[in-house]
Amino acid sequence: MLNIVDMKVFVVFLFLMFGFSSVAQVTKVDNRIVLEGKSAFEAYACNNCHGNKGDNLGDFSGLKKRFSDEEIIRYIKNPRLYGNKLMPVYDGVIPSDKLNTLVHYLHHLGSEQTPKKL
Ligand code: HEC
Repeated sequence: MLNIVDMKVFVVFLFLMFGFSSVAQVTKVDNRIVLEGKSAFEAYACNNCHGNKGDNLGDFSGLKKRFSDEEIIRYIKNPRLYGNKLMPVYDGVIPSDKLNTLVHYLHHLGSEQTPKKL
């Protein structure tokens, strides 16, 4: 089993490989941020609960309506503030630049989902 540090190194490695081999494909800054968010989503194991497409637990399709980007970051840092006892507290675990990319990725996932009833 890879531990979280190994995984992070691996993800950075993958990102560098990908980044260098396909500079021409990743033209839009937006795309880059979404891809970085995807790496973080996997590196911090968000996909374990939320699913690779974000369609498992929770509902990212309505995020924009319910939370500002700052609130989403607040939520991820401490889900307990929102009554969520299951999700890990990520305060001090995820650096703020990664949190920003995660927000972009959550919006991206949400835009591909049909809203579900919670
Ligand atoms: C141990 C499981 C678990 C992990 C790991 C996890 N979450 Fe969650 N998350 C949840 C649960 C459960 C909810 C509440 C879902 C609901 O309200 O139905 C939630 C809710 C959320 C919400 C609010 C969604 C909404 O519609 O209200 C966001 C944003 C979120 N998670 C982001 C993340 C991110 C980003 C990560 C990784 C850094 C992550 N989560 C990791 C279990 C998890």
